Amino acid sequence: MGIFRIEEAHFGVTDIPQCVHFFRDFGLEELESGAHGATFATPAGQRLELREEGDPSLPPPLEAAPTIRELVWGVDDAASMGALADELSSDREVEVGSDGVVRTRDNTGFSVGLRVAQPRPVDPGEPRRANATGSVQRWNEPITAYGRAHPMRICHVALNIPADGREDAVAFYVDRLRFRITDQLLDMGTFMQCEGDVDQHTLLLAHRPDRAGINHVAYEVRNFDEVAEGGNHMVACGWKEARRLGRHTIGSNVFRFFHAPCGGRVEYAADMDRVDANYGPNVYEQRPPHHIWMLTSSGQKGEEQ
Ligand SMILES: [Fe+2]
Repeated sequence: MGIFRIEEAHFGVTDIPQCVHFFRDFGLEELESGAHGATFATPAGQRLELREEGDPSLPPPLEAAPTIRELVWGVDDAASMGALADELSSDREVEVGSDGVVRTRDNTGFSVGLRVAQPRPVDPGEPRRANATGSVQRWNEPITAYGRAHPMRICHVALNIPADGREDAVAFYVDRLRFRITDQLLDMGTFMQCEGDVDQHTLLLAHRPDRAGINHVAYEVRNFDEVAEGGNHMVACGWKEARRLGRHTIGSNVFRFFHAPCGGRVEYAADMDRVDANYGPNVYEQRPPHHIWMLTSSGQKGEEQ
């Protein structure tokens, strides 16, 4: 199977306490925190590592702090990881860290890690049943509030890459790490699925005129309500919303984004398309609309793309 999920995301940050506060409010499990960093986990067993920007254990950044410093991909077993490492070493430096992570750099310069995944089973509970005339699924069972979100897993990451060299940047993931292109927006970026995933995308490389860095990390929650309520909790805690509640065109996921003090943004995501080899790759000369819908308020027609 090879790579089947995101295993760890490492960030170099400028304000550890603020980041800790943010991810507590966001709903991740705090494994440890101190003066030099913090580690959070998802119920699926993925880790978010936050370290001081000058921490010598971090690979160099591609943009000013705070930002992502390394993305570690989860591989199904040691044999698959060895095969990927051998292949990568044919044209680039590959190291094995004391943490067991196989490290190299992608064609943009981002540090890429591989490790044997340690997944934990996630129990999302019974799906919420919905009522509509002609389709009543829920009797004598009022809906109760979640109050806040508890994301189940990191479901995708979006990285900014310079427009020059974008084909080469994508080719690294497709040809070397066996990702599959699902949707390619020639004027915006490329959505890819890692080999063992079924989400419409695990990785988006979004091309920008001249910069590389973090765009966003998405965390899957159970459903629409949890996206909305988790976002409301973040707003109540004083965090700044980056994109209002909506539903994407590509991937169909419900979204709500917040500016993250670790760099870039975070997304609460739910109900993304699951796709297999029968889907795509779809190539768009011009990008389809960013969203199917997004909340607007009086006097506003919507948000820029
Ligand atoms: Fe996203």
